[in-house]
Amino acid sequence: MENTIDIIENPSSQDYILQLKDVSVSYTPGKNAVNEVSADILPNTVTAIMGPSGCGKSTLLRAINRLHELYPSITTTGEILLKGQNIFEMNPMKVRRLAGMVFQRPNPFPTMSIGENVLSGYMLNNIKLSKSEKEELVESSLQRVGLWSEVKDAIGKKGTFLSGGQQQRLCIARTIALRPELLLMDEPTSALDPISTNRIEELILELKEQYTIVIVTHNMSQAARLSDNSMFMYLGELIEYDNTKQMFTKPKDKRTEDYLTGQFG
Ligand SMILES: Nc1ncnc2c1ncn2[C@@H]1O[C@H](COP(=O)(O)OP(=O)(O)OP(=O)(O)O)[C@@H](O)[C@H]1O
Ligand SMILES: [Mg+2]
Repeated sequence: MENTIDIIENPSSQDYILQLKDVSVSYTPGKNAVNEVSADILPNTVTAIMGPSGCGKSTLLRAINRLHELYPSITTTGEILLKGQNIFEMNPMKVRRLAGMVFQRPNPFPTMSIGENVLSGYMLNNIKLSKSEKEELVESSLQRVGLWSEVKDAIGKKGTFLSGGQQQRLCIARTIALRPELLLMDEPTSALDPISTNRIEELILELKEQYTIVIVTHNMSQAARLSDNSMFMYLGELIEYDNTKQMFTKPKDKRTEDYLTGQFG
């Protein structure tokens, strides 16, 4: 695994799946929680976002699928391009389908069965599917996350009966069922035990062949194991963005180095 950033030499804008251009997000006027972040992300890569608590990682991730506009007091400026298209000129539902989000705590819909959870994106968007399409989608999505053999006899049971790790895989299946391009994961394993964490990490590496993944993590060894490229954020700013190996061995900024060596603060 050499420098992924250089896999495509001199990439042009249509090579990128995601482009952030001077993205700022503010919860309170005059104070940016994310400050002028610019970065380009190539397809089929895993990008880790690291940085101390409160530096704006989740805020940045939520901007990418337009979750902030559900709250009128939050302002987002700058440009975010998904496959070259400005997300603010797209239908927000389409943005959220193309850029699926997986959260820190597994959050299957408690009133829905396992099968309904997988199909929930379609149900909530009023997209009608035939019975066979539904069956196919439930099976293929659960297969993809390695959950099918564990739950195939319990598709009608509530998703909340599953273990934490299984619930998180169900949530990933629910996102994948919508055939996204980009998976945004906000500390997807921080609420899980080591075995479930391992399982999700393996899954992320498999999913990378088909999807592009941006994962927020506090776990530096996880970032090193999983990611091609890494971002280090501090106080809302993107301090460093580089090939992960490069960043972990030769960080360019003193703050990145201090963070990676645990000497922060
Ligand atoms: N809904 C909100 N309203 C007001 N301020 C917020 C809100 N959410 C986050 N913030 C503030 O924005 C900044 C960035 O928060 P964010 O949650 O993005 O950080 P983070 O890097 O994800 O931290 P953590 O590692 O703890 O999850 C923080 O100063 C936080 O207090
Ligand atoms: Mg966060």
